[in-house]
Amino acid sequence: MAKVVIESLTKVYPEKTGPGVRAVNAIDLTVEDREFMVLVGPSGCGKSTTLRMIAGLEEISAGTIAIDGRVVNQVLPKDRDIAMVFQNYALYPHMSVYDNLAFGLKMRNFPKPEIDARVREAAALLGLDQLLDRRPKALSGGQRQRVAVGRAIVRKPKVFLFDEPLSNLDAKMRVSTRTEISKLHARLGATMIYVTHDQVEAMTMGDRICVMKDGDIMQVAEPLTLYNHPENLFVAGFIGSPPMNFFSGTLRRTDRRIEFVEAREPAREAAPNGSNPLSLPLPEELARRGAGCIDQPVVLGIRPEHVHDALTTTGADPARTAEVRIEVAEPMGAETYLYLSTGVTNFVARVRPTDRFEVNQRIKVHFDLDHAHLFDPVTGRVLK
Ligand SMILES: Nc1ncnc2c1ncn2[C@@H]1O[C@H](COP(=O)(O)OP(=O)(O)OP(=O)(O)O)[C@@H](O)[C@H]1O
Ligand SMILES: [Mg+2]
Repeated sequence: MAKVVIESLTKVYPEKTGPGVRAVNAIDLTVEDREFMVLVGPSGCGKSTTLRMIAGLEEISAGTIAIDGRVVNQVLPKDRDIAMVFQNYALYPHMSVYDNLAFGLKMRNFPKPEIDARVREAAALLGLDQLLDRRPKALSGGQRQRVAVGRAIVRKPKVFLFDEPLSNLDAKMRVSTRTEISKLHARLGATMIYVTHDQVEAMTMGDRICVMKDGDIMQVAEPLTLYNHPENLFVAGFIGSPPMNFFSGTLRRTDRRIEFVEAREPAREAAPNGSNPLSLPLPEELARRGAGCIDQPVVLGIRPEHVHDALTTTGADPARTAEVRIEVAEPMGAETYLYLSTGVTNFVARVRPTDRFEVNQRIKVHFDLDHAHLFDPVTGRVLK
C-alpha cells in the first residue's frame, strides 16, 4: 500500500521584502495506491514545488503529507521510500550505466548480489542490458532518460515521482518513452506522481489528472471526465488541442426557448462590417443549465470537433448554423483545422480532410450544442 494523502499543503517561498511567493496554496489531493496521478498546469503553477515537498526536498510551510498513513513532514527524504526522476537526468558522467544504476543501492549498503540482481532486472525491463558498460555520454537522450528511470526502479520505492522527465527528448522519442513509462507503471504496479506541462502527456498517461493554476488545484478527475466535463473555464481551455472555443455573449429568453446571443465588439454600437454575431437556440439540457442566467453575460464553450461544415452534416438543425468566414485552413492529414471568424470571435473547427477550403470563403457551420458548455465569466465556473 502506498497511498499519498496531501492536506492543506502550502508553500510560501520567503522574499527579502514582502509577504513571500505563495507557490502552493492549501491544496488537498489524495493519490490512491498504485495510481498514476499527473500534475499538469502552466509554468510556475506550483507543480515542481508540490512534488519536491512530497520528496522532502522542499520545506513545507503548512499542511501535511502522509505516505501509507504516516505523516512524513519531519521524515528525511532518504527515509521516505520515494524515488524521484528529474528532467535533467543528473547521471554521473564518469560512471558506467551499471554503476549509475547501482549507486543508490551501494550508498544504502545493499549486499552486492542483491544490487547485481536489481540492476540486471531493471536493465532488462528498460532494454538497457546491452548498454551496461557504456558511459552516459555514449548514450542517446532517450537511453539516458531510461537510465535515470532505472535508478529509481532499482530502489523499489513505494512512490515514484517524475518531474517533466521527457522534456529533453525530441518529439518522437517523447511519444515512445511516454508509452514505456505507462507500460512500466502497469508492470510495477507502483504509485506514481508525474509532473508535466504537456496536456497530451497528461491525457495519455494519467489514471487521473490534477490541473493546477497559480498554486491552486482547478480540478482532479479522470482524463475523459476533464475533457468532457470541465468544471471551469481554465480546465476547459487548458485540456484539448486545439483548445475549446469560447464565445462571450448573453442568454435571452424568446417565446419558447433560450438563445445564446454573441456579444458584439464592445467598442462598437453596430456590428462591424461583415460581422454576424451568433444567435443560437439552446437545446433543452443546456437551456436548463442557463435558465438562472437570463439576460446575464455568459461564455459559451464548444470544442472544435463539435463545429461542423453544415454542408456535409446530415440533419444539421438550420437554427444552429451560422455563416462565418475562413481565415486559415490547416490540413493536418487526418483532418483539417479551419480557423474561422464570426466577425467578433475567432474560433476553430475540425472538419473532413477531403473537402477543399479557400481563405476568406464564407461557409455555414453547424454548432452541435448538445456538447457545449456555459460558464459564468466572473467566477469561471461551469453552469450545471
Ligand atoms: N526557490 C524559490 N524561491 C522563490 N520562488 C520560487 C522558488 N522556486 C519556485 N518559486 C516560485 O514558485 C512558483 C512555483 O514554481 P514551480 O517551480 O513549482 O512551478 P512549476 O509549476 O514546476 O513550473 P514549470 O512548469 O516552469 O517547471 C513560481 O512562481 C516560482 O517562481
Ligand atoms: Mg517545474
